This record gives sequence, C-alpha cells and structure tokens, in this order.
Amino acid sequence: MALQQTNEQRKHVIPTDRTCPFDPDPEYRRLREEEPISPIEFVLAPGRKDGWLVTRHEDVRAIMADPRFSHRNELLAQVISPRFELEKYEPQPAAPGSFVLMDAPEHTRYRRLLTGFFTVRKIQEYEPTLAGIIDGVLDEMAGLEPPVDLLPVFVQKVVYRSLHSVLGVPEEDIAALDEHFTVITRLDYTLEEFVHHSTVLNEALARMVKGLFEQPGDKLLGKLVKTGELTEEEVANIAWIAIGGSLDTTPNMLGLGTFALLEHPDQLKKIRENPELMDRAVEELLRYLTISHMGASRVALEDVEVGGTLIEAGQTVVLSLPAANRDPDHFEDPESFDVTRRSRRHVAFGFGIHQCLGQHLARATLRIGFQKLFDRFPDLRLAAAPEEIPLRDKAMHYGVYELPVTWG
Ligand code: HEM
Repeated sequence: MALQQTNEQRKHVIPTDRTCPFDPDPEYRRLREEEPISPIEFVLAPGRKDGWLVTRHEDVRAIMADPRFSHRNELLAQVISPRFELEKYEPQPAAPGSFVLMDAPEHTRYRRLLTGFFTVRKIQEYEPTLAGIIDGVLDEMAGLEPPVDLLPVFVQKVVYRSLHSVLGVPEEDIAALDEHFTVITRLDYTLEEFVHHSTVLNEALARMVKGLFEQPGDKLLGKLVKTGELTEEEVANIAWIAIGGSLDTTPNMLGLGTFALLEHPDQLKKIRENPELMDRAVEELLRYLTISHMGASRVALEDVEVGGTLIEAGQTVVLSLPAANRDPDHFEDPESFDVTRRSRRHVAFGFGIHQCLGQHLARATLRIGFQKLFDRFPDLRLAAAPEEIPLRDKAMHYGVYELPVTWG
C-alpha cells in the first residue's frame, strides 16, 4: 500500500445499496480487501478537505481510540444531508451540553455527569422495571386482532415507556418528539423540513427543561438539574442527545432484529431451546445488523499514518462500523448470522471515549424484549412477504419502517 494516496485516485461515496435487508452494501467487501482506506467524496462544507472511508476492524478501532482524531463539530467537514445552504454553511462549535460533538476535556466534563446512570449495575437494578414495562406492552398487544404492525404496538411503546421511567419525560411527550426526530434523522429531508422540525423540537425540549428547573423530580434529567452544575440550555442539549440517541437506535434494533430472527428460524429455534444463548444472540444481532450504517466520523488533528496511508491534518475519516463488523480478519465466517458466536469486540456501539453511553440499557432492552416477545407469541410470523418490508436505508440509522406480523 502506497504511503501517500491522493484524492485524485478514484473516489467513493458511503455505500448504502443492499442486496439483502440484513447485509451491508457488497461494495464494502471489495473495499476492505483492496482499498481498506479509500478516498471518499463528501458533500463538503466550504474550505474543508475531502477524506477517507475506513473499512477494516483493526483500523476503525485504532482511530476511535486515538486522541489525534477529533469529533469536534466545527472541524467535521462532511455534510451528509441537504440541511444547509452549503455556500453559507460555516460549522460552529457544539452548543453547550452537546458533548457528543466535543473532545476531552469538555466532553469528559459532561459525560462524567451521566455515566453513573448507565453502568452495568444501574441497568441490572433497572431490569425488573423494564421487564414490567415489556410485560405490560405485550398484554396490550395480546388483546389486538392480528395482523399488526409490530413497530407502534410493541417496539415504540417499549422504548417510550422505558425512556419515561429512566429520564422522567412523559410518554406522550416522547411520542411527539419522535415524530420530529424521525424527520431530521433521515438523509433526504429538505431544508424547510429541517428548519421546521428542529425548531419545534428545540422549543419543546426548552419548555420541558424549564419545567424541570421548577420541579426536578427524581429521574435522570431532574437529577442533572439538581447537581446545580448545568444551565437550562445544557440540560436541554443533553436531553436532546439522550432522547434522540435512544429513539433512533434501540427501536431500529428491536424491529430489524425481530425481522432477522423471523427470517432465520434455525437461529431463533436455538435461542428458544437454549434461552441462555440470548446474551450472545443480542451481541450477534448488534454485529450482524450494525444499524449505524453511515459509520462514525472523525477529523485528523495532525498528519497520521494508518495502515500505510497518510491521513492529512484536517481530513475527515468515516469509520464504517458495518464493514468493520464483517471483517474476516476479526470474525470467522463474518457473513453468517450465528447466535452461538462470541461476537467479541464488535464496534456496533463504537469504541473509545465516545463509545455508546446507553449500551447496557440497549442490551437489556433487546435481551428482555426478544425473550418476552417470542415467549408470549411463540408462533409470531411475518404478515407480508419479506421483500415488501420497507427498509430505512435513507436514514442515519438503518432499520424497518413497518413490520407486519401475525400469530395464532
Ligand atoms: C442498539 C442501540 C444503540 C446503538 C446501536 C448505538 C450506537 C452508538 C454508536 C455507534 C455510538 C458512537 C458514535 C461515535 O463514536 O461517533 C453511540 C454513542 C452514543 N450513544 Fe448510542 N446506541 C444505541 C443506544 C443508545 C441509547 C439507548 C442511548 C441512551 C442514552 C444512547 C446514547 C448514546 C450517547 C449519549 C452517545 C455519545 C457518547 C459520547 O459521545 O460520549 N445510545 N451510540
């Protein structure tokens, strides 16, 4: 591999074409083998440099762990949706509280206020409440006449009610916010749609947080207010991240995961016969489906050599999580879905300082959710041909828009 690859070489856009609903674009296989760090074409903010698409597991993890790569908003060059009038667009530093788009030490200051709520132990303590929420939703679903769309009757209710009990935001408010998040997490919205939905969202969150400053309550957001360390704006932006980060991810994993299990009856049978396999099955679903299909972006703060390629200071790298999670150098027979696999060190939750804050909550929701869904509806099956299931391939996170199912 030449040390100095240039952007004059052939460029790529992020591959998103699928031949099977559960497999990433087959182009990733070629890239990982032939050009694991390949020049990529972005819609660029003015004056910014082009960058690279990274597809090998080893390189993706190395960059995510390397402080020479930044996630600061004002440095990110890539614009992946037409939300901005490009000629006027000047990336700004992240707003106070929007710690995802900051580096240490600013990132650390906010993250440390939150980690205590999401530890393995805290989530274990929360599991009985979560199981009760899921049982309640399944009771309601059992009263319906099939076929139904599993998303509103199961997936969304579970996530809305769980968010209500963790964060302290009423279920109806979360459902209302979800309508707006759904639009702005698409990749094809118009500028008008973006302005409208993000304005409504920000106003709703600001109102909600104002209420919390008057009456904090005893849930996560209220406890953040009670620390006395944060302004209303900071709490509103943290709420944005926690609610948006949950609504765009766990529901997609629950919906697409159910679809994948129904389409792999041999694997589903193994879990049903050996419930202790569920932990591994969830990790395997996270790896195999890798819903963060647009990857994670970072910007080089200095010239850095990765796998024999020079990444110049100021260039953006897109770390393809789906490609890394199908890397045969790390996973044996990576294209097969195998619930008995130990999916060690997959990157579905990222890696390094920005590794998913909500990963243990997500895992518990998936494990208990799938377990109880298939216990309660052992003959659950699709009520449409698999090729008719609408796929979220033009959205920040991949999943299904509907999942018609039936039973009985
Ligand atoms: C299956 C569900 C989920 C998946 C696949 C997922 C995936 C990810 C990924 C890949 C990242 C790293 C992004 C990067 O490095 O650029 C991330 C970060 C994050 N996730 Fe999740 N996530 C899930 C659920 C959740 C939930 C339930 C929450 C709720 C709190 C959450 C909150 C966050 C936050 C706050 C970050 C940013 C952390 C930081 O910058 O320090 N996620 N997630």
